[in-house]
Amino acid sequence: MGREGENKGRNIEDRLERILFDQARIRECIAAMGTRITADYAGGDLTIVAVLQGGVLFLADLVREIRLPLRLDSIAVASYHGGTASSGTVTFQDARLPDVAGRDVLVLDDILDSGRTLSAIVNRIRDEGAPKSLRSAVLLSKQVERVVPIEADYHGFEIADEFVVGYGLDYRGEYRNLPVIGVLKDEWIHCEA
Ligand code: IMP
Ligand code: MG
Repeated sequence: MGREGENKGRNIEDRLERILFDQARIRECIAAMGTRITADYAGGDLTIVAVLQGGVLFLADLVREIRLPLRLDSIAVASYHGGTASSGTVTFQDARLPDVAGRDVLVLDDILDSGRTLSAIVNRIRDEGAPKSLRSAVLLSKQVERVVPIEADYHGFEIADEFVVGYGLDYRGEYRNLPVIGVLKDEWIHCEA
């Protein structure tokens, strides 16, 4: 069994210092976004492209709030490489790009921070995918100065510049399964030296 003191954090929600958004608030926010997307894309040829891994919970809940025929696809990238600060490079983990030629594409990610990830994906789909239209949606928008200037066309909550986990968002690959979004207690953040 894990390291010493693990018993203190047996329930992973106990590892949170603070909950920012509980399940009810997330559900309500995503329902509102789904309603807007349903209205905006009526009559379109919608393909939702989720950014893996972080966007999967958001994807699963959002698509059930969109009352239109649509297709699902995904794209896998890595930018954090384990810590709580972005590495500054966005790596596509698959040479394959979703087939979106002539489609109305909506790219979904969990969070917009520096803007590097979303802009790298949007640029690649625009340049290589020949979509009919291209927009983006994120559940969280960090209120920081973007390194790459980009804003999502749809965003759920605006948050301050702090590292959050849960609902798809990870720290060192974990916590994605938390049904809420919150801030980890310091004791669960490892020294990166
Ligand atoms: P950006 O490229 O800096 O905009 O960051 C976007 C990506 O970094 C997201 O897809 C997330 O995977 C990750 N990320 C950014 N902020 C956080 C955070 O607070 N918690 C966990 N992951 C984050
Ligand atoms: Mg991500």
